[in-house]
Amino acid sequence: MRKSLYSGLGIVLVAGALLAPSNVAGAVESPDISVTNTKAHLDQFQSIATSNGGNRYTGRPGYKASADWVKAKLDTAGYTTTLQSFSTSAGTSYNVIAEWPHGDANHVVMAGSHLDSVSSGPGINDNGTGSAGVLETALAYAASGQTPRNRLRFGFWGAEELGLLGSKYYVNNLPAAERDKIELYLNFDMIASPNPGYFVYDDNPAGNGARDDLVAYFTSKSVQTEFIDVQGRSDHAAFRSLGIATAGTFSGAEGTKTSAQAAKWGGTAGQAYDPCYHRSCDNINNLNLTSLDRQIDAIGHMVWNYTQKDYSEGPPPTGDNLLQNPGFESGAANWTGTTGVITNSTSRPAHGGSYKAWLQGNGRTTTENIGQSVAIPSTATAASLSLWIRIDTAETTGSTVYDTVKVQIVDGSTTTTLATYSNLNKNTSYVQKTVNVLAYKGKTVTVRFLGQEDSSLQTSFVIDDVAVTTS
Ligand code: PHE
Ligand code: ZN
Ligand code: ZN
Ligand code: CA
Repeated sequence: MRKSLYSGLGIVLVAGALLAPSNVAGAVESPDISVTNTKAHLDQFQSIATSNGGNRYTGRPGYKASADWVKAKLDTAGYTTTLQSFSTSAGTSYNVIAEWPHGDANHVVMAGSHLDSVSSGPGINDNGTGSAGVLETALAYAASGQTPRNRLRFGFWGAEELGLLGSKYYVNNLPAAERDKIELYLNFDMIASPNPGYFVYDDNPAGNGARDDLVAYFTSKSVQTEFIDVQGRSDHAAFRSLGIATAGTFSGAEGTKTSAQAAKWGGTAGQAYDPCYHRSCDNINNLNLTSLDRQIDAIGHMVWNYTQKDYSEGPPPTGDNLLQNPGFESGAANWTGTTGVITNSTSRPAHGGSYKAWLQGNGRTTTENIGQSVAIPSTATAASLSLWIRIDTAETTGSTVYDTVKVQIVDGSTTTTLATYSNLNKNTSYVQKTVNVLAYKGKTVTVRFLGQEDSSLQTSFVIDDVAVTTS
């Protein structure tokens, strides 16, 4: 979860089309997810069940075979996959997790479905359909050549039918920092019911537009939807309970289609959306392929768009120091440049703590530098770079510059020196210096300190407690 969104989905190329920048989901051209391929995955789940006692239930061979098969498909497509095992009262179960190894890992968009069936049948609508649709979307994304902004991850959950065990196990075992990176979880459980409805989970916490994006997508395809409160009945529940934004679709289970619903969706009023729900007849014939086709395209639409959504944080509060490790107390962390410059050597005091950047002091012709990249918000009305500096020197001529340190800004290929201090500025008390960097607002630049010494008589430029602040 991240705070405010800020604008600017860059230009994205989709299937050769140059699309205008936008910060809203909906800017990316939606893919056509192949119903033929998705149906082939369902045939595979049916065949796995048929050759494993008629089901794909937790702890039975049909489940593990389903998980192995899904994982192998994703591996072949280039996903980084994990088979996560956990124990249940019915035996060992597995989650298959697949991550596309591109895009910003700090912003993760997930889609998932449960892969297990009940013990009484092959579980083709429940939930071969969600699994096949999410799998085909993952394979299509891998083949699409998209450049993802965010990190895309798919979850195929075990033991949903035993009480959402796989998804709960997954979220409970994610370190807090990893949970925090998940921006959205999309769930698909039963999406081709033979007498289908078009239900969208009503989950709608503030700031989660995914529900409304699903509705808008179906509306654009002339499919009317209804919101449904699915409570804790599927795997999004575990994510939602952590405060993660969730959304999902559902074509109905044991509930009865009303005549009003039959009028807008077709099918049979007074009959269950899925009369074979949790029964042995939930087999390869228990599908509405129109529902499947529409639903998988909705999955594709959501995945393509949310993968490009700009989840970056808004500008930092004014007054914050935008530099990391500004007093060097974490050693060289966050700084790049000449090795050994950042030191806790006791032969020169720090301004604060014990570490500082000690440039030069060699007494021979050398240069040394350290720098750090910083993004100066475009909203800044003032921006300054300040530092504390202590200069001691063995130079004795009181009027000639021999050794210098430059305070520089590197902006792409242009380096600008904003201040220069030399042996003439010697002062063994620390002095604070400030330069104006407002000219760089809206840019990511490198703040750099560059020391240069001539062939003899050392000058030490010791810098500490550096800050870039804006207002
Ligand atoms: N999770 C239920 C099952 O697998 C089906 C379901 C999905 C019910 C979504 C309500 C909403 O049996
Ligand atoms: Zn079920
Ligand atoms: Zn289900
Ligand atoms: Ca220090």
